[in-house]
Amino acid sequence: MNEFFNKVIVITGGNSGIGEAIAAKFNEHGAKIVIFDRADQKKLEAQCQKLQQAIFVQGDVRNISDIEKLYKATEKAFGKIDVLIAGAGIAGQRIIDEIDEDFFDNIVDTNFKGVYFTIQRAIPNLKKGSSVVLISSVARLAGFRNDSVYSSTKAAISTLARNFAADLIKREIRVNAISPGYTDTPMFDKVKMHSPQKIQEFERTIPVGRFAYPAEIAEAVLFLASIKSSYIVGADLVIDGGASAISPL
Ligand SMILES: NC(=O)c1ccc[n+]([C@@H]2O[C@H](COP(=O)([O-])OP(=O)(O)OC[C@H]3O[C@@H](n4cnc5c(N)ncnc54)[C@H](OP(=O)(O)O)[C@@H]3O)[C@@H](O)[C@H]2O)c1
Repeated sequence: MNEFFNKVIVITGGNSGIGEAIAAKFNEHGAKIVIFDRADQKKLEAQCQKLQQAIFVQGDVRNISDIEKLYKATEKAFGKIDVLIAGAGIAGQRIIDEIDEDFFDNIVDTNFKGVYFTIQRAIPNLKKGSSVVLISSVARLAGFRNDSVYSSTKAAISTLARNFAADLIKREIRVNAISPGYTDTPMFDKVKMHSPQKIQEFERTIPVGRFAYPAEIAEAVLFLASIKSSYIVGADLVIDGGASAISPL
């Protein structure tokens, strides 16, 4: 029988991009899916209708009370959790001199605090043998201009994967992270619209020659959630078409 059949999968940021692709992938495997996202109700309903067994919880990862609501609703609908994916995140580039407190807090509260409490508040509801996957980014690997806040939050996520792994492995909960490179999601919609030449510039830095498809990132998440990766703990898998591994020369 399929490993994920009737298993309970919670995905934050599950209404769009990488999270949406992860939901679709687990759906193919017969899982029960809980999507947590701040999208409006109509969009979340439409998203769940595409899936066989799915509910949504509308909320904001910056609010711990919304995260608690997520786990209450999950338990009521489906019981305890087999796989938790912390995918909700925002990008944000700004020249260093113009970064103000609101800009800083919004990214840090979403990408770091949000992920921290998404995992911490889930602990009582995570089954023995469950798997947690955090979504970091290759932005943590190098210095990118105008990206200091976002990149730092992603470095924090990779560190969290190791620390949560240390805290939870004795409870038989495995924690890992992935670090995608450029992935073709709505995160790039504005860039595509206002400066399409930027997309080509990005593509030139990728040995594979193109952005990742969200489904390719979802495959890696499926692997880290599965028994096939039973000995992988606290790792952070880079999925960037070779960009960080292969010299451009
Ligand atoms: N795309 C890439 O190239 C790339 C590369 C490396 C890592 N990542 C990471 O992958 C993850 C998913 O990104 P994506 O590209 O799939 O972006 P996306 O298409 O924008 O999806 C992210 C989803 O998370 C939601 N979200 C954002 N802030 C939230 C909050 N405070 N509470 C609840 N939901 C929230 C978004 O809602 P809104 O639409 O309202 O913001 C959106 O539905 C992020 O953590 C991102 O940093 C992406």
